[in-house]
Amino acid sequence: MHPDFWHQRWADNQIGFHQDAPTPLMLKHWPSLGLAAGTRVFVPLAGKTLDMAWLAAQGHRVLGVELSRIAVDAFFEGNGVTPEVTASKYGTHYRAGDIELICGDAFGLDEAALARCDAVFDRAALIALPEDLRQRYARELYARLPSHCRGLLITLEYPQHEKAGPPFSVVENEVRALYARDWTIETLERRDILETQPKFVEEGVTELHTSVYRLERKR
Ligand SMILES: C[S@@+](CC[C@H](N)C(=O)[O-])C[C@H]1O[C@@H](n2cnc3c(N)ncnc32)[C@H](O)[C@@H]1O
Repeated sequence: MHPDFWHQRWADNQIGFHQDAPTPLMLKHWPSLGLAAGTRVFVPLAGKTLDMAWLAAQGHRVLGVELSRIAVDAFFEGNGVTPEVTASKYGTHYRAGDIELICGDAFGLDEAALARCDAVFDRAALIALPEDLRQRYARELYARLPSHCRGLLITLEYPQHEKAGPPFSVVENEVRALYARDWTIETLERRDILETQPKFVEEGVTELHTSVYRLERKR
């Protein structure tokens, strides 16, 4: 999607993807990663997700990246903190406590920006991107994460012809095609969620699953 698409979504407050609580499947599966407190966690395409606050509350340092200044401001306001603001070639950095959120383009982050991100959490990031950008996201952006980085990826699967994305349907075969070269992939859970998503039903979607994958960088 063009950045303007997302800027407009935030300007119009069309942010149906935002959740008022941390992602339940993260709460369930994050502990299985066995990460030490202090591990730096990369949260790409972060929006204003409360997942960042939860990860920081677990003792992690968090690096998020998000295009929309509206989202970044709302995240810190919503958490009742005033961030320090600095600029770099990656964008505008907002820091408060253990959370750093870069307002900028995720694809502009290089290995130096992602240094020491030994973990990654993706909810509604890969599936927010059309197919060509999914390739760049998995093969280029994730390739800049350090070796032995591990994390969770949460996807949606539905018959793509029944609805236009985003969110896009990303089936297990695609996840494997995107990541298997550089990451070991373990499917932790696949769950039918159609009944809990009336908006998808209204749009004519007849099947909807969410999957959780554990990814670990091979080298
Ligand atoms: C579907 S939302 C998900 C947000 C968050 N992960 C969540 O679970 O609420 C996708 C977000 O990615 C942001 N985004 C899209 N493309 C981006 C890019 N290239 N770099 C940084 N952020 C981007 C959008 O502004 C939007 O807030």
